[in-house]
Amino acid sequence: MIKPDATGKSYTGAIIDRFLKAGFSIKAMKWTKLTKEEAGAFYAVHKERPFYAELVEFMSSGPIIAAVLEKENAVADFRKLIGATNPAQAEEGTIRKDFAASVGENAVHGSDSDENAVIESNFFFSQLERF
Ligand code: CMP
Repeated sequence: MIKPDATGKSYTGAIIDRFLKAGFSIKAMKWTKLTKEEAGAFYAVHKERPFYAELVEFMSSGPIIAAVLEKENAVADFRKLIGATNPAQAEEGTIRKDFAASVGENAVHGSDSDENAVIESNFFFSQLERF
């Protein structure tokens, strides 16, 4: 996902370019906006965390881009490409280092496992929307 901070600052094109240049291919993509209920459901795994309410509020505050990206070793390579959750700790040249402002408003989300990638892809896309 490209998050509301990044879509709001018009970083969308530059971030998608990073995905493509890193060798990811786009299987599905959409511009949409999450309701609070949808953002809450997407991040349900974090329900007990102190930042959950803030996360849900932020993720429903503006448009996002949801995408399914494909590559060998995609989960690990994507996490390398985006950098640490907290942009202050992200390595030079990573998307969060270059485009994110804070741990909450950190520009992009990536699935943390193949299993969650399937769950998160199914959250946004039907089979008819994947090419
Ligand atoms: P993401 O990869 O989308 O997965 C969960 C998100 O929770 C994470 O990126 C951060 O944006 C957010 N998050 C994690 N820790 C904090 C925190 N301490 N305060 C606010 N948001 C956080």
